[in-house]
Amino acid sequence: MVVTTGSDGITPHEGWSSRSAFILAAVGSAVGLGNMWRFPAEAGENGGGAFVLFYILCVVLIGLPVLLSEVLIGRHGQSNAPESVRRIAAESGKSSKWAILADFGVLGAFMVLSFYCVVGGWVLYYIGIFASDLVSTGLAGGAFEGRPAGEIEGLLPGLFGNGALMVGLHVAFLATTLFFVARGVSSGIEWVATWLMPTFFVLFLGITIYGASTGGFDETITYLFTFDFSKLTGPVMLAAVGQAFFSLSLGVAGMMTYGAYVGRDVNLASTSGIIASADTAVALIAGLCIFPIVFAAGLEANAGPGLMFQSLPIAFRDMPFGSLIGLLFFIMVFFAALTSSVSLLEAPTAWFKDRADLPRAVATTIVAGSALVLGALAAWFWGVPVPGVSSMALFEEQDLFNVLDTATSKVLMPVGAILTSVFVGWIASRRLIDSENGLSGGLEQIWLFLVRFACPAVLAVIMVVGLMG
Ligand code: TRP
Repeated sequence: MVVTTGSDGITPHEGWSSRSAFILAAVGSAVGLGNMWRFPAEAGENGGGAFVLFYILCVVLIGLPVLLSEVLIGRHGQSNAPESVRRIAAESGKSSKWAILADFGVLGAFMVLSFYCVVGGWVLYYIGIFASDLVSTGLAGGAFEGRPAGEIEGLLPGLFGNGALMVGLHVAFLATTLFFVARGVSSGIEWVATWLMPTFFVLFLGITIYGASTGGFDETITYLFTFDFSKLTGPVMLAAVGQAFFSLSLGVAGMMTYGAYVGRDVNLASTSGIIASADTAVALIAGLCIFPIVFAAGLEANAGPGLMFQSLPIAFRDMPFGSLIGLLFFIMVFFAALTSSVSLLEAPTAWFKDRADLPRAVATTIVAGSALVLGALAAWFWGVPVPGVSSMALFEEQDLFNVLDTATSKVLMPVGAILTSVFVGWIASRRLIDSENGLSGGLEQIWLFLVRFACPAVLAVIMVVGLMG
């Protein structure tokens, strides 16, 4: 374990062993199901091009400045997210009530964790499907021995219909996450990131190049990059910012928590740039991988959450070595998802461990146990509208899984980001911010302008037009 000293000079706490370990862990947190599964689903449900271009704009003008703000809060505060905010507020002579912004964040991360691990369970299911296909049909030929597309598409609804299996897989995924987080920052979380993220990138590049060589790109490029202004409605804009926050792990204390483990010698601005670029590149490439298959197979682009799980297996059916490639693909998604779920579990764990003064392993187990219950309810009551809540316009007819997703990405994350940018832009002392942000000259002015004015104002407007629908 690497021990650095907290900003109070007394509390020793854990930390990343190097700058590259931090980059891998933060990219690992950002790159996950949000890129491979949620981004194509959201783009498809929100009309394609208008969503995608607005999403990119959100990442650059809102996501990146907020990302720098979050890691800055963490590194200066050197503690769990709410405590870091409290320390900065105290140092700046401001009210400790600002810590509430991170309290909500911790709650949000917990909610995301619960439904994230349900989807992680689906990934495990498909690993099992492809592994058994590989064993039974051998390496040559495609997957599923030429079974009809409808049957392959039906695998996911089949899983949705089996509550016990869905709950079991969710528990398995969450237990894996727990195992690594309980081991601590440098020997658990960092270990996962340094081994799994490079493997992920190798597999991702390999499968993308292979996919690109099979052609069928034209319709996808038109679909994803044609900007039709009339499609940019309030709800589409809100969905795009929400996706940007989800994908960059922002607005719910995740990056504040990871920032606390960063050494003083790391330039936070340039590392934030690397994290945001890597995350966006993976999302766009995932879109370029998935949509050609969707169009070629005559599937609906707006299929939503099922998209990645239903369209790709059909493509693997028609590829040589399809079972093996499918297996590698879902293993790769599993790696990306695991490096994200550990960050989702770490944010509430870091807070709870300090607050209740518990050993890490105990605190992690209690937090994970609670997420297990919430996620299991979301899996079990799949497709069942939540009584009461689902009559609200925002949660129209949604089941618990979707209520958790909507409440976090469309409410908690944007609100968390507004409060974070106001806190960094207006509340924290200027000297403190200057010494942490790693920027100077014109770039620093631009960042300050975005954090003080653009982010809070634009986010407030998007939330209002988005929620009013
Ligand atoms: N960014 C991750 C993804 O795209 C999900 C995630 C990890 C996350 N940590 C987070 C989302 C913290 C919000 C907050 O899959």
